[in-house]
Amino acid sequence: MAILEILQYPDTRLNTPALRVEKIDAGTRKLVDDMAETMYSAPGVGLAATQVDVHRQIIIIDVSEDHSDLRVFINPEITRREGVAMNQEGCLSVPGIYDNVERAESVTVTALDRNGSRFTLNASGLLATCIQHEMDHLQGKIFVDYLSEVKQNRVRTKLKKRQRKAA
Ligand code: NI
Repeated sequence: MAILEILQYPDTRLNTPALRVEKIDAGTRKLVDDMAETMYSAPGVGLAATQVDVHRQIIIIDVSEDHSDLRVFINPEITRREGVAMNQEGCLSVPGIYDNVERAESVTVTALDRNGSRFTLNASGLLATCIQHEMDHLQGKIFVDYLSEVKQNRVRTKLKKRQRKAA
């Protein structure tokens, strides 16, 4: 396994829409394994392939405390959204920035797992928030896009400054 580089906002590659995965093969599974290692080492609770510059519809999520509940969603589709929830979100591509985002409180998602089997999941709470956040990445959307223009500018300036310092 390998730890992959996570693209940092406002890198425009994060705005690339992901294509459907046509065939789940050994390469797909290796990518999923590498994404999991990358997410756990960050550490984070979710990661989209977009964030590691692979523009395919793959997201992984593990909201457990002990890394025991890895969920893989390939070509995910939300078929039901219900309720409204406002939660503070963060993102491995936007380190150190947290803000409230309004999402559906519960969702039903259908997707393929790492073996290519189709499954349907009803999710609420943190898992539902994560699914919506990660699926946004596949459309090239980041949680800061939901914030006010003023806040977005502030985040952009802050991260660019930090990236310059690190370089
Ligand atoms: Ni994110």
